[in-house]
Amino acid sequence: MKEPVYILGIESSCDETAAAVSCNDNILANVIAAQTVHEAYGGVVPELASRAHQQHIIPVVNEALNQANIRKNDLQAVAYTNGPGLMGALLVGSSFARTMALALGIPSIPVDHMEGHILAHFAKKPGEQRNIPQFPFLCLTVSGGHTQIVRVDGYFRMEVIGRTLDDAAGEAFDKISKLLGLPYPGGPVLDKLAAQGDPRAFKFPHPRVPDLDFSFSGLKTAVRYFLRDGEAGSPGFRESRLQDICASVQDTIVSILMEKLEAAVTRTGIHRVALAGGVSANSALRARLRGRVGWETFIPPIEFCTDNAAMVAIAGYFRYQEGAATDPFAVPYARGRDCG
Ligand code: KG4
Ligand code: ZN
Repeated sequence: MKEPVYILGIESSCDETAAAVSCNDNILANVIAAQTVHEAYGGVVPELASRAHQQHIIPVVNEALNQANIRKNDLQAVAYTNGPGLMGALLVGSSFARTMALALGIPSIPVDHMEGHILAHFAKKPGEQRNIPQFPFLCLTVSGGHTQIVRVDGYFRMEVIGRTLDDAAGEAFDKISKLLGLPYPGGPVLDKLAAQGDPRAFKFPHPRVPDLDFSFSGLKTAVRYFLRDGEAGSPGFRESRLQDICASVQDTIVSILMEKLEAAVTRTGIHRVALAGGVSANSALRARLRGRVGWETFIPPIEFCTDNAAMVAIAGYFRYQEGAATDPFAVPYARGRDCG
């Protein structure tokens, strides 16, 4: 029997204050406080995010420890997101985590947010039977700030082989949703509306980007002009065709992502393909990947796709297994080491 290792994970890189407790690779608690304060602004306001993190962090951590039914003194380490993300938001989580670890006399472990999204594949809910990817595998990591194809050769042996040159896929969902008058964050709302629409109703251009890289800013511009022309020709066009527009936009984004994944599989010869990041909650993307015959595909449960602290706890656990010690010089970073 493996000795139980309890890790507290803390995530505060954007607008979710989250805490999770893992016991080895099992997630015992996964608590998230979403911030509603940003809705009125149509996007995340960094200063308001930091303040909301400060209000939420203690109750969220207490709730995670309660749900896991352990005491602070049972913890072996505190893992926290160190970047990339909003600097003020990261500072709330990292200062809290490091202070708590110092007070408990245990290591604090910095975790990269994008690595966390990928390592979420290895987090298990108690009693859950899920296929875990073997190395090497390819991971399409798609979130509000990133779009990457990552070759994963080990828990911390990852190479970004494709990236966006401008907007991220989630950003494309959010910005196009804004053009359509939908609330922020638009991705999940657009996904729901798309379910009632025809994905072949309208055609949008695919960008011509070499290699395994992506570009989404052209699509946003194309939709802007498409809506302008549609309204000019027939006032009320946007509202009357909303579901078809959503379905067509979603189909375009998913097709662009799938084309590059196909190219990545051909180039690397790796047929194990995983999804990670908030956009992997998208129903069309999940269905397309699941339906791809000839690949072994891995799609985490939705609560491990969008920002969460389970992924931070599991990444912390693997670092702990490697003998990670507190890094007194770990400084939060806003931009990814290789992000789009
Ligand atoms: O990973 P995540 O929760 O936060 C970041 O690290 O950015 O990703 C958030 C992004 C947002 O752009 C949101 O609109 C998008 O994920 N998203 C979705 C869906 N759920 C979340 N996009 C499309 N379809 C969804 N169902
Ligand atoms: Zn994320």
